[in-house]
Amino acid sequence: MYEAFFGLEHPPFQISPDPAFLYPSAVHEEALRHLRYSLNHFKGTCLVTGPVGSGKTTICRQIIWELDPESVDHVLVVNPRLSEQELLAHILTDLGEAVESWEGLAWQVQRVILDRHAAGRHVVILVDEAQVMPNESLEVLRLLTNLETQDAKLVQVVLFAQPEFETRLAQDPALLPLRHRILVQCRLAPFKYDETMSYIRHRVAVAGGDGQRVCFSAMAGRAIHRWSEGVPRLINHLCDKALMSAYVRQDREIKLRDARRARQDVGALL
Ligand SMILES: Nc1ncnc2c1ncn2[C@@H]1O[C@H](COP(=O)(O)OP(=O)(O)OP(=O)(O)O)[C@@H](O)[C@H]1O
Ligand SMILES: [Mg+2]
Repeated sequence: MYEAFFGLEHPPFQISPDPAFLYPSAVHEEALRHLRYSLNHFKGTCLVTGPVGSGKTTICRQIIWELDPESVDHVLVVNPRLSEQELLAHILTDLGEAVESWEGLAWQVQRVILDRHAAGRHVVILVDEAQVMPNESLEVLRLLTNLETQDAKLVQVVLFAQPEFETRLAQDPALLPLRHRILVQCRLAPFKYDETMSYIRHRVAVAGGDGQRVCFSAMAGRAIHRWSEGVPRLINHLCDKALMSAYVRQDREIKLRDARRARQDVGALL
């Protein structure tokens, strides 16, 4: 709506997890480096945790985008409240296979993975919102990671979850075997003040803008950081509303009063 006024080609602060806008903060970059290393070296199971709105799904999408389709088949589970059978069926479907029989699902998945390996391909299973996956289905994933050659896993699992999943892993004895398999663990965290400012500039630049035509005053920036507590999704909500407020005033500088207006509009989210 306000894009043309600010000289933007795209809306800069949408809340969809679009990797095109990925800002490599220290923790996001570190998570990506660990995941790339682990996936390139067939290391097995990885876990990325982070508070609500901190960028887990964005990292997940970025990693999928980076996977080499010539050698990797991936399965994405976005709604992991699945029974064991449903999970196995989902894996087959995502791998482009028709379910042969409900009773023989586990065997079929195993066979498909071994066939893919024989054809020089390997399988990556990514689970977003893993904190809601039942223990039995997590156990199915763990058992799949048992498929291995002497030096590499045939299936790699990447779990993305909210921080309480770490507590569940630590306290539930049924999940101990899975905990032992997690070789790479990364924690996303909200941005520090400087990162919030760079993040805002980064998203504006990716949306086609420049510092002259879209400029957040220092006070507006500080307020947005404080109210969002550095959580990217909340920064997006506040910046979007603040841009709208400045647009209504026909001012290219986003001022503290716009940030305040944004805070009112965002209201209950903060
Ligand atoms: N490093 C980043 N670079 C660019 N945008 C980001 C980054 N981290 C988060 N975002 C943005 O913040 C918003 C929330 O990110 P995302 O949906 O990935 O968070 P999440 O951790 O998966 O949240 P939830 O716990 O609710 O699933 C999205 O608009 C996303 O684009
Ligand atoms: Mg998410």
